[in-house]
Amino acid sequence: MKHGFSWQYDEFKQVGTDYSTKAEVAIYDSSHADFRDAEAESRNILAALGITADARLIDFGSGTGTFAVYAGRRCARVYAVDVSQAMIDHAAAKAAKAGVANIEFHHAGFLTYEHNDPPVDSVVTTFAFHHLPDFWKGIALQRVNSMLKPGGRLYLHDVILEETNALANITAFVDKLTAAGGERLREDTERHFREEYSTYDWVLDGLLSRAGFTITSKQIDDGVLGTYICTKN
Ligand SMILES: C[S@@+](CC[C@H](N)C(=O)[O-])C[C@H]1O[C@@H](n2cnc3c(N)ncnc32)[C@H](O)[C@@H]1O
Repeated sequence: MKHGFSWQYDEFKQVGTDYSTKAEVAIYDSSHADFRDAEAESRNILAALGITADARLIDFGSGTGTFAVYAGRRCARVYAVDVSQAMIDHAAAKAAKAGVANIEFHHAGFLTYEHNDPPVDSVVTTFAFHHLPDFWKGIALQRVNSMLKPGGRLYLHDVILEETNALANITAFVDKLTAAGGERLREDTERHFREEYSTYDWVLDGLLSRAGFTITSKQIDDGVLGTYICTKN
């Protein structure tokens, strides 16, 4: 789909925080550690998906590669996909340092990655899907669905909004992250809502079911942070 349409959304053009710069990549892990436990998240994702040693999975928006490296140690193959070459380089260096050799890195995204191997058991994406506007989220989910085995699973975690009290919930979320990570994290979080494309859970529910998924479980924490586990129909 890289050369599909002249009007195709350019997913390589960063919106909001610019993850294409080495400076942003260099501070990513430490700044996210202020409000996330990457190791615990990775463990929970693999448990939720029931990942076994023979499983293969795609991680879209793999970022600095923390999850990919964790998963690579515990499954057969990880396809780590990201539109930022700086992120890919950083993640590949992290994998090499950890001695994890079963990760394939792809400089591509939800709309452009071509999966040429057999369909995978699972697709994981954390804090990346909000980079696409809603129409393109729908196209991306159809593509993700086609890369999964029948019965394969999608784990999607991101900023996803409940409609009730959305503005109050966002304000509380910005305050919570500012308390955890200071002014830098406040700027990051505010920029997220100002410039990026987080959407309502009811929009995402519709996009997922229309793309051929059954929502197996769904949780929205603080009305703002969503975790979906979906099964390919
Ligand atoms: C906030 S980081 C999340 C990284 C990692 N998944 C995590 O949970 O820490 C967002 C990542 O998504 C990537 N990204 C942005 N748009 C994308 C797209 N359309 N397809 C794939 N990756 C994308 C960015 O380059 C960045 O590395």
